[in-house]
Amino acid sequence: MVVRGTLVAVLGAGTMGVGIAITVARAGYSVLLADVSWERARAGVQAADAYLSESVRRGKLDSQQRLAISARVQPSAEIAAMRDAAVVIEAIPEDLDLKAHTLRTVEAVCANDVLFHTNTSTLPVTAIAGRMRRPGNVVGTHYCNPAPLMSLVEVAPAWQTSAVALERTEDFLRSLGKEPIVLKDTPGLLTNFLLVPFENDCVRALEAGWGTVEELDLAVTTGAGFPMGVFRLLDIVGLDVHRAVSLSLYRQLRNPRFAPPPLIERMVAAGELGRKAGRGFYRYGVEGFE
Ligand SMILES: NC(=O)c1ccc[n+]([C@@H]2O[C@H](COP(=O)([O-])OP(=O)(O)OC[C@H]3O[C@@H](n4cnc5c(N)ncnc54)[C@H](O)[C@@H]3O)[C@@H](O)[C@H]2O)c1
Repeated sequence: MVVRGTLVAVLGAGTMGVGIAITVARAGYSVLLADVSWERARAGVQAADAYLSESVRRGKLDSQQRLAISARVQPSAEIAAMRDAAVVIEAIPEDLDLKAHTLRTVEAVCANDVLFHTNTSTLPVTAIAGRMRRPGNVVGTHYCNPAPLMSLVEVAPAWQTSAVALERTEDFLRSLGKEPIVLKDTPGLLTNFLLVPFENDCVRALEAGWGTVEELDLAVTTGAGFPMGVFRLLDIVGLDVHRAVSLSLYRQLRNPRFAPPPLIERMVAAGELGRKAGRGFYRYGVEGFE
């Protein structure tokens, strides 16, 4: 069991790391939000604060709750600071070598029973675990974006994951108010295996001139009943992240519907990455809110 109040380290202070840090701190844990530099980690904490302030403005939290949650999230760029963590949650870019190398470095300073959770969208959790000294402690936990709002977490045990680590992971996720579903360690699990080809089809329809961004999003929401348009969703995900996820799935599955469309390549090259860049398929204000 992971005791409430204990330290949870979140690696990567980007879109997912910030959302996961908020989720974990809200449930009463102390969070170390770590990135490659103190400035990036600090920017992640500021993004978490901005999200929490917006929640107060919308009446979802009161100011006291906001202050208490904010106080539990601290920035860090020091691997050594993670030595007391009970859980390490990795949310760094979708690159097997980077994830495995980073987790192995952190593992060297942590206790023997620390849980390592990888938020990979597409990479084999079994391959990440295979690079660790204690592979039994590694579990794939794929949060949906935005992590503070979406209740589903896809759980993918590696072939090496111990029964105890899996049980502790499910308990931990429930303590966050999440709904874990345990799946096989397959490319993209369920959500990305189903969603990514559909998203790429929408981008290809846009490229082919079958409709505008607004028209295609309208078709997806009011016609197909999705809660959000695909282009709005891609802007939230981040087009660089979508590109990496598509490419990884395409390499594993060899199905062309997973390959990133040329328009995505061009937009990433131009830095039009979506909300986090202020510009993607839509335009955004400084704080990422429209
Ligand atoms: N964006 C989504 O909708 C989404 C949803 C579910 C899962 N994921 C997965 O979550 C992971 C992170 O995605 P994201 O959207 O948050 O990416 P992001 O680009 O927004 O953030 C990644 C962060 O990791 C940091 N980083 C890079 N190397 C690091 C290291 N060695 N140590 C610590 N920090 C490091 C970067 O500086 C950056 O701040 C990816 O594996 C992605 O596939 C993304």
